Parts: sequence; C-alpha cells; structure tokens
Amino acid sequence: MEPSTLLLLLAVGTVAVVALDNGLARTPPMGWLSWERFRCNTDCQHDPDNCISENLYMRMADIIAAEGYKEAGYQYVCIDDCWLSKSRDSNGRLQPDPDRFPHGMKALADYIHSKGLKIGIYEDVGLMTCAKYPGSQGHYEMDAQTFAEWGIDLLKFDGCNISPDAFSEGYRDMGFFLNRTGRPILYSCEWAIGDILHHRAADYTAVLEVCNTCRNYDDINDQWDSIASVINFYAKDIGNFSKIAGPGGWNDPDEMVIGDFSLSRDQERTQMALWSMWAAPLFVSVDLRNIRPESKSLLLNKGVIAVSQDPLGVPGTVRMMVGQISVWTRPILPKGSTAVTMFNPAQGGGPTNVTIPVSKLVDSGPSLYYLVTDTFTGDKVARLSLSQGLSVRVNPTGVAMVTITPA
Ligand code: GLA
Repeated sequence: MEPSTLLLLLAVGTVAVVALDNGLARTPPMGWLSWERFRCNTDCQHDPDNCISENLYMRMADIIAAEGYKEAGYQYVCIDDCWLSKSRDSNGRLQPDPDRFPHGMKALADYIHSKGLKIGIYEDVGLMTCAKYPGSQGHYEMDAQTFAEWGIDLLKFDGCNISPDAFSEGYRDMGFFLNRTGRPILYSCEWAIGDILHHRAADYTAVLEVCNTCRNYDDINDQWDSIASVINFYAKDIGNFSKIAGPGGWNDPDEMVIGDFSLSRDQERTQMALWSMWAAPLFVSVDLRNIRPESKSLLLNKGVIAVSQDPLGVPGTVRMMVGQISVWTRPILPKGSTAVTMFNPAQGGGPTNVTIPVSKLVDSGPSLYYLVTDTFTGDKVARLSLSQGLSVRVNPTGVAMVTITPA
C-alpha cells in the first residue's frame, strides 16, 4: 500500500470514529423530561411526590407504560439536573444523591427497562452543571463508561461552566467516548445554544455530526410568550438549520409543556403541531399523574405524531405568509404528500379565514387531484384540484393542520 493511501485510510478512520456512530434517532426521539415541570426540587422531606428522586421517575415510567404513551411512541424517561451527589465517590466516579436515589442508578435503569422503556440522564460539558452539581469536564471518558455501565440510553449534555476554548472540543470528546462504550446512547447536546447565548455563530453541521439532537434556543417556560418566541426563531431559520437536520440528527426547540398550567387549548395544539412539523424531539415535561384528559389525548394524537415521525425526516419550514399567518409545509410519505400547518399569531380577536390554492402548497406533483385530511381528527376535509383553493379557519394563537395527499 502506498504511504499516501495508508494516511488517507487513517484519516478517514479517525473521522468515522469521531462522527456519530450510534444508529439512533432515525426519527425524532419521544419521551418525558423532568426539567420544565419539576426543576431542581430536591426537598423530598416536604415535597416527596415532586422532588427529583428515583420515586418520581419510576412513577412516570409506570404511567408511560400503562396509559398509552409508550404505544404512542414516548420511549425515553429522562432525568435532568440535580440528580447528583455534590461530590464524586472515592474513585472519582459520579454518584447520585444517596437520599433521593437510594437504590442507585443501575437499579433505576433496570426498573425503567423492565417497563419496556429507556432511561435518559443529564450531565454538563463543564466543571459544574447549570445548577452547580459536579460536571463532566476532566472526566468525559470515565463518565461515559459509568453511564454505559448503569444502562443509560440517552445523555442530555448541558453547556454551563466551561471556557469558550474548551467548549466544542468537550462536546466532541464526550461524543467520542460515548461511541467507544459500545452502548448506543442517544447524545442530546446544548452545544448550538451555548454558542448562540455567548454570541458565537452556531455550527449546525459540526453539531449534528456528533450529536443526535441539537438544542438551539433558550430554555422553554410554561407560558405563551416563551412558545411564541421559539416559533419566531424557527420561522427565521437563521443559518438554515432546518436543512441540516434529518434522520439521526434533529434540531431541538426544548420540551413540550402541554398539560401544564398556562397554555390554552389552542396554544397546546400549536405546540404539538409545530414541534411535529419541525421534526423536533417530542419530550414532554408534565405531571402525568394529573394531566387533563384533553391534553393527554393531544399528546397521544396519532395523526400529528405520524407527521412528527414521518420516515423522510424532512423538517418543515415557512413556505409563505398570508397576512400575519405563517404557512408551514413539510414533505411526508406517501410520495407527493405534504403536511401543512397554518399558524395565527394574533393574540386576540376571532378566528381568521384563509384560502390558498393547492398548487401553492404542494410541490408540482404527480397528481391533478388531492385529498385533504384534518391531521388532528383524521376527517376528510376536501378533494381538490391543483387550482382549487383550500379554505381553513385559524383561531388566535392556534393552528389549522391538514395533510394533503395525491388522490
Ligand atoms: C439549562 C438547560 C435546561 C436545564 C437546566 C438545568 O438551563 O438549558 O434545559 O437542563 O440547565 O439546570
């Protein structure tokens, strides 16, 4: 072999090991994550049912497995910040808080696996997590190994408490060591948002070569303004991040807050529809023990989840504006079909009627006629030719969502 060929092979070999190599997230991951709803509540003495403890994750896993969420696709039960003991053990290994996780992480992972579900955990690329628990910096290899030994299936890797020059390298290193464990561990990164918050350009291509999901907007809150600002950011699509995502790597607008305290029925439908249009991870942060039935059935909606999980994996974007209304489209299967969501940002007034020719919503396709289905209900809305107009009514802060299929 020529030395130059050998060098080339070595170089290619290195890239292949560094690049994401876990076969996961071929469609956007779905699950439950504690952060938005349960935060850093560590007071198990006064609030035993709501504190960050093995008890909370076990109860959520029970409900996800027993009440239809698992069948709908929600698979990952994810721990966020504040699970850790304030110090590493005598061997330098991470350990959970002994009072709140008395049986240890391996036992919790076994329990969640016994329900047919997967377990996610949280760490940070820096010296401390955002809530000031021990971070992974300086211990990436050991921590990846620890997570694999515990049976962890997903790592959310936060971006607090690290200097800018070590930041990107830290994410790459952890990705490398996760791959090297041989256990498929979905790698959920706050790399792009870390760069954006520190006024650096996000390199989406670099992130999605290493990570399965890419958080690119600030922390979500259970309030409409927060949802509206995420929608605005995804509409602008700065850096064309929608074009970089696809099977194996997705942009992450943070958790769903459907079923919490603040959103109206229309606003909950908007979050479910747009997160699905974007091919975003669907991680809900809600107390499943007392969720309202309407919110639960929205989370389980088959039509909208089918759009989210469409195997083409092409994220939707804004195709056109009709006045204030943004019209999002996403190509889906069967071939020639389009998911369409019209979003009305108006905060008051009544519903707005919109009529758009079908030819403006679909890519010039194989068909003269199209079937239009309401994605939420599955009801047939119309059979239209390319030149005919599709009419929908969109409530303030709400959406109309339809699926258009060649007839
Ligand atoms: C950051 C992340 C949140 C959450 C908290 C935990 O703010 O963006 O999603 O993980 O840290 O401290």
